[in-house]
Amino acid sequence: MKELLPKDRPLLLLAPMQEITDLPFMRVMESHGGGPDVYVTEYFRVHADSRLSKSILRSIDENRSGKPVLAQMIGQSIPDLVRTAQLLEKYHPVAGIDLNLGCPAPVVCRKRAGGGLLRDLGHLDAILGHLRDAIAGRFTVKTRLGYHRAQEFEDLLGLFARHSLDALSIHGRTVEERYRTPVHPEWIRAAVDQLECPVFANGNVVSVETGRALLDQTGAAGLMVGRGAIRNPWLFAQLRAACLGQSKCCRPTLADLYAYIRALYEGTASATRFDERKHVQKMKKYMVFIAQGIDDDGAFEHAIRRVTTPREFWHLCETTLLAREGFQAAEPPHQSSIFCGFGALRRRSSETRRNA
Ligand SMILES: Cc1cc2nc3c(=O)[nH]c(=O)nc-3n(C[C@H](O)[C@H](O)[C@H](O)COP(=O)(O)O)c2cc1C
Repeated sequence: MKELLPKDRPLLLLAPMQEITDLPFMRVMESHGGGPDVYVTEYFRVHADSRLSKSILRSIDENRSGKPVLAQMIGQSIPDLVRTAQLLEKYHPVAGIDLNLGCPAPVVCRKRAGGGLLRDLGHLDAILGHLRDAIAGRFTVKTRLGYHRAQEFEDLLGLFARHSLDALSIHGRTVEERYRTPVHPEWIRAAVDQLECPVFANGNVVSVETGRALLDQTGAAGLMVGRGAIRNPWLFAQLRAACLGQSKCCRPTLADLYAYIRALYEGTASATRFDERKHVQKMKKYMVFIAQGIDDDGAFEHAIRRVTTPREFWHLCETTLLAREGFQAAEPPHQSSIFCGFGALRRRSSETRRNA
């Protein structure tokens, strides 16, 4: 993965997000500011009877961005993970195979997959060993810091170091913390210091300032951005410009946001058999993030959660975004429960600067 790192700035990756980061979403990211440097697919579920999901394969096979796409797998059965990795490598233009060690969903963890694997380091060691032997190309991992406590990361680091990973992306929270706490950059920094491979920092990057803060506090080779990019797809362009020291960068207006929502609506509609009401429900998955900070009292988010028809949906978007002039707020509101804890990142950076 070292060969993919830009010489003059950190690498930018779009975080994998189930039922969000499909091919149409990736296309919309590309057309709004140029997108990230690297994509990661939603996870392929792996078990004894699993077949490669056709819709997820599209985000690899039909991806015309020219950017590398990592294929992510989730599962715990060694022969099935090996079989799936080899199938993906053989038949599809993947830039690498990524293993999910972070999904906190109880149904996934109970099966000892995703974040659940962090409770069984013996089995995880065996999985990493077998996958490393079986994967001819790049083998990367996306992990959380531990299951219960961030301190578990010390043992995990030893394990990652043993298996010559090509890159490690770290969501700086434990499984039990889900999305509710600030991230713990000091553990990402420990990985940067101890591992040979590039480390990508993930969690709570919602703006240029939070991205800079996470880079400062971790020394990571790259940033992986998820929910912040749903809210603001231009965030990759903004981060790229800031890292290159360019002062001029796009600042999305409310009208730009409206056009982005239109592109999402139309792009994702063409991907499935279109059903108006179901499509409005699908749009709400994105809108929960986009709505953060549109108004001071959260009225837009409240209302968008309640629309059921395209007519109501577009009327609300038009009256909120087109009827007013102005810019998208640089960050979500600090009290946002959807983007919990990002303020702590910036506070730590300013404290460090004050003490320096
Ligand atoms: C709706 C949603 C779906 C997600 N699906 C995945 C997934 O399929 N694989 C994965 O590794 N992480 C998944 N994640 C976690 C994200 O990749 C990322 O680690 C997390 O959102 C923190 O980064 P952020 O603060 O930039 O959003 C998901 C997160 C969300 C919000």
